[in-house]
Amino acid sequence: MEEELRKLEQEAVAALNEIEREDGLESFRVRYLGRKGSLSSIMRGLAQVSREDRPRLGRLANQVKRKVEEQFNLKKKALATAREIPAARLDLTLPGRRQPLGTLHPVTQVMEEMCSIFEGMGFAVAEGPDVELDHYNFEALNIPEHHPARDMHDTFYVSESILLRTHTSPMQARIMEKHDPPLRYIAPGKVYRCDSDITHTPMFHQVEGFLVDRRVSFADLKGVLSSFLRSMFRKDLALRFRPSFFPFTEPSAEVDIGCVICGGAGCRVCKRTGWIEILGAGLIDPEVLTRVGYDPDTYSGFAFGLGVERIAMLKYGIDDIRLFYENDLRFLARF
Ligand code: FA5
Repeated sequence: MEEELRKLEQEAVAALNEIEREDGLESFRVRYLGRKGSLSSIMRGLAQVSREDRPRLGRLANQVKRKVEEQFNLKKKALATAREIPAARLDLTLPGRRQPLGTLHPVTQVMEEMCSIFEGMGFAVAEGPDVELDHYNFEALNIPEHHPARDMHDTFYVSESILLRTHTSPMQARIMEKHDPPLRYIAPGKVYRCDSDITHTPMFHQVEGFLVDRRVSFADLKGVLSSFLRSMFRKDLALRFRPSFFPFTEPSAEVDIGCVICGGAGCRVCKRTGWIEILGAGLIDPEVLTRVGYDPDTYSGFAFGLGVERIAMLKYGIDDIRLFYENDLRFLARF
């Protein structure tokens, strides 16, 4: 008990030192000095100690109580005095203290702007889970088990059938399963891949977009993407559709825009090519449409998956994608 009392004294003095405002005093009093406080409960324990030790411990308990009360009263006085600042020292002309204002993260700002441009074109917004079933991430998108295309994804697995989604394309299957065509949706969100360099981070954002209707063609896809990029960058940018392959689109393309960091001359961001890849796209493979119960002879559609960080880098001239995730306020406050 002796040790308990000494510890309590130390703890109480330290807690008093932490108090900076008068409204902190009452909870201290209740906690340490009140009827149900720590000191009273130790003192109640005196009944259990041996008769020889009781007088000595009783005295010690009273000493500790007096000391804590004394310190408490001193603190109370000090805080009250501090409140009554002499009028002469109070300068009302001094400027107030500014509260620093936070801002949205630049990637969030860019994602919101992207969504609002697509909403303006009539796309509805839907969100889906980051922790996804293998079925939606791969199987429903025509990527069966052991398909070599799975290698392109550097997947983080949670279990054999559950993973962190590697792209936002699973939302195509999730939405098409629930709705009949015609439909046009975008699905923004986080995606995960085991990947890191100046243009790749292990967690990044994509905006998936897809449209299904009668007689949708590649020209529609090109029109939507060009119009989106014109609104996003507020100018006509050099745009390049490169033939590519995705198991869930046919034909497929990857789209690059002229590197705005070097103006196309070649730099470390565009790997000296003058171009930066910003999205994958294509016409939705009839196999994907069939799996969700659509008739591919009646309906066709296009889909695209845009890399949000890449768009943000190009929009703000940032030459290393990892800067977005270093939590350096000097960098983030620029936006
Ligand atoms: C896909 O993820 C496909 N799901 C896109 C798609 C959707 C194709 C619909 C067809 C139809 P890809 O792996 O190329 O494709 O990624 C798309 C974009 O995400 C890339 O163009 C790039 O801008 C961005 N990206 C990819 N990996 C990373 C990464 N590690 N860090 C940051 N951005 C990345």
